[in-house]
Amino acid sequence: MTVLYPELNNKRVLITGASSGIGAGIARVLAREGCRLVLHYNRNEAGIEKTLSDVQALGAEAEVLHCDFRELDRVVPFFEAAWQAFNGLDALINNAGIVSKVTSLKDPHGEAFDEVLAVNLQAPYRLATAFAQHCIEAGHGGVVVNNSSIHGQKSCEWFSAYGAAKAGLDRLTEVQAIEWGPHGIRLVGIAPGVVPVERTEVILSQPPVKDRWMKCTPLGRYGTTDEMGEAVAFLISDRAAWMTGSILTVDGGLIARGNYPFRDEMTKS
Ligand SMILES: NC(=O)c1ccc[n+]([C@@H]2O[C@H](COP(=O)([O-])OP(=O)(O)OC[C@H]3O[C@@H](n4cnc5c(N)ncnc54)[C@H](OP(=O)(O)O)[C@@H]3O)[C@@H](O)[C@H]2O)c1
Repeated sequence: MTVLYPELNNKRVLITGASSGIGAGIARVLAREGCRLVLHYNRNEAGIEKTLSDVQALGAEAEVLHCDFRELDRVVPFFEAAWQAFNGLDALINNAGIVSKVTSLKDPHGEAFDEVLAVNLQAPYRLATAFAQHCIEAGHGGVVVNNSSIHGQKSCEWFSAYGAAKAGLDRLTEVQAIEWGPHGIRLVGIAPGVVPVERTEVILSQPPVKDRWMKCTPLGRYGTTDEMGEAVAFLISDRAAWMTGSILTVDGGLIARGNYPFRDEMTKS
């Protein structure tokens, strides 16, 4: 177990959506770095218990807190409890997120749209703002990492709410970085490519689906949840002390390629 950023030892970090997938990967990596963790979940009790036991096995102190971010009035009280857990926080990882594949014509009143915006954008706004207020009052800086997506940069069918929320999250990262830079609070984002998680690993392992993604991904493989954790650890470390308002794309080269036809297919005949 190699510690990469000794300055992260004992840092107090709230990770939302730590009950599975990328949030659990972030928790494991930050536990390795010696952080004290507030682990958030919504419905997956077994998942959060697993993350808790994984990080404790790595020697980390951790507390678990619940909140459903669709109930936006609960978000700030949830944050207050998270701040109290270790008598303050040094970093906030806005990771929790949901996907809706409901097309606009099937959601004319915007119920699905509103739900995605609540969890993926409005809750992160409230959490980051409460975090900044508390850090300023406490007289110290801090770091917020927003888990965005390549869908914040480019679009595809089905993802109207998801894409709008992630693009909004990227702009929010920039604006709050500008607002709070003078207080020593950095705002950064990661934009993951395709990372199999419990929710998606079956579909992503099916040969036609996997072959298609691999063709589009220059590095020829999916990402891992721990690789997303490594990006977050770097971003909250002092090595990234001059980074703010930036979104780090971590996608195996997927988005760099663009939507051009494949040259080998065009020259086959
Ligand atoms: N995996 C990828 O390929 C990928 C790519 C780009 C970006 N991302 C982003 O990565 C983040 C994590 O996603 P994931 O892929 O790791 O998926 P995941 O395993 O499904 O994790 C989603 C997390 O969000 C929490 N959550 C869901 N609904 C919530 C609600 N109403 N209130 C509060 N929390 C809620 C879940 O908690 P419970 O399960 O406890 O309810 C879970 O911990 C998301 O922001 C996602 O957009 C993922």
